[in-house]
Amino acid sequence: MSQDSAEPHPSDLKKLTPSLNMSTPGRPPSILNLDVLFDNPVFAGGIGLAGLGAAAAIARRSVIQGASLVKRRLLVDLEISKQDDSYQWILAWLSLPRPSGGVISSSLTRIHHLSMKTTSRAAANGPSHAHFFLQPGYGRHIVRHGNAFIQVNREKQSSANMSTGEPHETVTLTTLYAHRHVFEDIFAEAHQLAASAQEGKTIMYSSRGMDWVPFGDARRKRPLNSVILDEGIKERIVEDVKDFIGRQQWYVDRGIPYRRGYLLYGPPGSGKSSFIQALAGELDFGVSIINLSERGITDDKLAHLLRKLPPRTILLLEDADAAFRNRQQVDADGYSGGTVTFSGLLNALDGVAAGEERIAFLTTNHIERLDEALIRPGRVDMTVRIGEATRYQAAQMWDRFYGDIDVDGAGRERFLQKLEALGLVANASGERSGTFRTSTAAIQGLFLFNKGDMDGAVEMAEGLIPRKYEPEPSAADVGQRVPT
Ligand SMILES: Nc1ncnc2c1ncn2[C@@H]1O[C@H](COP(=O)(O)OP(=O)(O)OP(=O)(O)O)[C@@H](O)[C@H]1O
Ligand SMILES: [Mg+2]
Repeated sequence: MSQDSAEPHPSDLKKLTPSLNMSTPGRPPSILNLDVLFDNPVFAGGIGLAGLGAAAAIARRSVIQGASLVKRRLLVDLEISKQDDSYQWILAWLSLPRPSGGVISSSLTRIHHLSMKTTSRAAANGPSHAHFFLQPGYGRHIVRHGNAFIQVNREKQSSANMSTGEPHETVTLTTLYAHRHVFEDIFAEAHQLAASAQEGKTIMYSSRGMDWVPFGDARRKRPLNSVILDEGIKERIVEDVKDFIGRQQWYVDRGIPYRRGYLLYGPPGSGKSSFIQALAGELDFGVSIINLSERGITDDKLAHLLRKLPPRTILLLEDADAAFRNRQQVDADGYSGGTVTFSGLLNALDGVAAGEERIAFLTTNHIERLDEALIRPGRVDMTVRIGEATRYQAAQMWDRFYGDIDVDGAGRERFLQKLEALGLVANASGERSGTFRTSTAAIQGLFLFNKGDMDGAVEMAEGLIPRKYEPEPSAADVGQRVPT
């Protein structure tokens, strides 16, 4: 009985909801409420719009995905970063106007935004030279090469090179997949252009931060015969370097690091640096220069730079004695105060982490400050004194400057006799009448001052007597070890 009173009878429910049962018989009440919502025009319109929006978003996504799929299938792109050697070649290639229909048939169709790159270098006499070079600016450009259209996108990245602070840069070339082989052509042309621009030139590299960078334009190769060293010296060094270059396999077979070191020492202006530059030209090498007396060249930096020398370059370490002057400067923590130390130089030259392949030239004006440890084979294999001007050199230099006007050599004889009389050079039998010496740089200066004027040069020869004379060190010639 109690059950009956707790649960309502179905007939009672009927009584409670007469209106609902009339309109939608058998449906639960909640769904019936939604119908009411859908009947509401504002609600229905909102839902319709939302549906349309979702459909549009899906359609958009599929279009983007489809486009990127098509792009991936149809286009091919190539990214070149500024760190890569080819970066500058490609920019140079893009900047060059070329005859259409010629051997190089590419044409700059739509580069409207150019940027300027200027390199300038102080000339020895006269104003400095500047070289302007227009290159594609940042942004997108279209270039045509043969039948292919290529989109070029040059961009600065938000990240920067840690050592130089310069932002990273990339150039991206994009073309149709069907035209992908055009990249090989472009690289071949760009490389050929870069090579021909450097033909007959010597590229000089210097360090910037932890990197090597070419400084200035490549210089015209200095002919080896324009550097006049005493009899036989040049030939001995050139022969030794060429022999070394031809023996790489020999070193590899024996597991010896392929390295050779030369030390050129002597007074200022004797032609050490000029000879190394001319030698590099003769071998078709560049020169990577570090001046060891420069502040900021630390042991770590030196070791790092020597490990990543630009290929096919001669390493030139100027002022090698600087490292010896700094020998005491390492403190307890090994900090060298921003300069290279003696042990830093030795380690960079042949420590465990030293580069495997290298031709190094060291120069110094003060051989007496160097240590025997440096002149050990493996670090320095050949030591050569490039000394004050000799009679032989004075005669050779005369011929280079006045050979065409002094046909019978009488002017040369007068000049040499004057130098003998001044005690600056030995006479023909090797005797000297004085202790003065002069440099080849001073003789060159005298001849440059008296261009085309032999008599003037002879008259002014007194000017070759050095105002301040320091006796030459007694260490001898090619190959001799220097006593400590
Ligand atoms: N033997 C030489 N033959 C031809 N030119 C020379 C010679 N020596 C010096 N010169 C000329 O003198 C100038 C200075 O020469 P260079 O810089 O090569 O001397 P250096 O020995 O390296 O001097 P430093 O020890 O001061 O570095 C250059 O212009 C060079 O052309
Ligand atoms: Mg020098």
